[in-house]
Amino acid sequence: MAKLIELKGLSKSFDGEKVLNAIDLYIRDGEFITLLGPSGCGKTTMLRIIGGFETADEGRLLFEGTDIGHVPAYKRHINTVFQKYALFPHLNVYENIAFPLRLKKVKEDDIQQRVTDMLKMVALSGFENKSVSTLSGGQQQRVAIARALISHPRVLLLDEPLGALDLKLRKDMQNELKTIQKAIGITFIYVTHDQEEALSMSDTVVVMADGEIQQIGTPTDIYNEPKNAFVADFIGESNIVDGIMLEDKKVKFSSHIFDCVDGGFAKNEAVDVVVRPEDVDVVEPSRGMLTGQVTSVTFKGVHYEIIVDIGGFKWMIQSTDYVAPDAYIGLYIEPDAIHIMKKSKYSGKFGDYSSFSDELDRLSDAELAEEF
Ligand SMILES: Nc1ncnc2c1ncn2[C@@H]1O[C@H](COP(=O)(O)OP(=O)(O)O)[C@@H](O)[C@H]1O
Ligand SMILES: [Mg+2]
Repeated sequence: MAKLIELKGLSKSFDGEKVLNAIDLYIRDGEFITLLGPSGCGKTTMLRIIGGFETADEGRLLFEGTDIGHVPAYKRHINTVFQKYALFPHLNVYENIAFPLRLKKVKEDDIQQRVTDMLKMVALSGFENKSVSTLSGGQQQRVAIARALISHPRVLLLDEPLGALDLKLRKDMQNELKTIQKAIGITFIYVTHDQEEALSMSDTVVVMADGEIQQIGTPTDIYNEPKNAFVADFIGESNIVDGIMLEDKKVKFSSHIFDCVDGGFAKNEAVDVVVRPEDVDVVEPSRGMLTGQVTSVTFKGVHYEIIVDIGGFKWMIQSTDYVAPDAYIGLYIEPDAIHIMKKSKYSGKFGDYSSFSDELDRLSDAELAEEF
């Protein structure tokens, strides 16, 4: 896939605050790429710059190699679907979708053909004459998508488009959006703060925090090989502890020396170590590499979520085997379950489950990240 859009050293400030800091990113033609990060990290601003609703202070925005930084939005071959769908309430479904073509004075037969095709694509055939105000949230969203796609843009920008829908409908729409994107083969640039949504829909995920890109990669890269403590914590659950890389493939943490698979660090380099809760095996204390006291056990349906105190640091473990809430247990960790990361400004901020509760978790990493 060729590069379609490039952001080079792009920065933007509001009221003296830098909200985007030297962003470098390219987006391939036909790619489903997602900007993922906590609220306030600059996702919408980046999307608005790409769409032409905002201009960068520094840096360049290229479309097929040409600088489009000062090309007005309507000339960019880029359309946007907003979270609030902004449909015209006085027009029916057909006229809402036909609207961009009418502006362009497209012939009536053409309009009819294209609206019919589009309705089929978003599974709303037969809804032509319905008033948009009688539609459900999911149906309104599909009308908004059809309207954004009917003028054949090269790129569709979607800013938290499913934010207003309930969970079940959200899941359905995620699949539908992915199917539509594959069917028409254009580039989707999608914004969300929901990591599960980003992982399940995207070809490429761009993890952002504090106006900077933390990592760019496939969903599996981002999950399995997080670049720093922020990414490890933001994507899924993570135990993140301080470690010392003794030599290649040997790391010490929690007073034990572990075999691992990573290398390329300086001798005795201080590192962050991440271990996913599902990669820890519960064993007899005598067989454990680490031992500790269970402090809570929560049934989650597929697995139990177990919090274990290991030398004052609380680990989260997910296991399908039941463990008593006050048991003394051993932990066993395979070498490939241990992922080593460079120290960063996010070191020490995340990855301890001491203050863990369901409620805190739901308040989300977003607010934690906003603290600095
Ligand atoms: N037009 C604006 N004027 C002033 N501040 C803004 C404006 N737009 C965004 N911001 C600020 O820029 C930061 C990034 O915002 P935004 O790009 O909307 O983040 P996100 O979409 O990731 O939540 C926030 O601190 C926000 O308050
Ligand atoms: Mg936003």
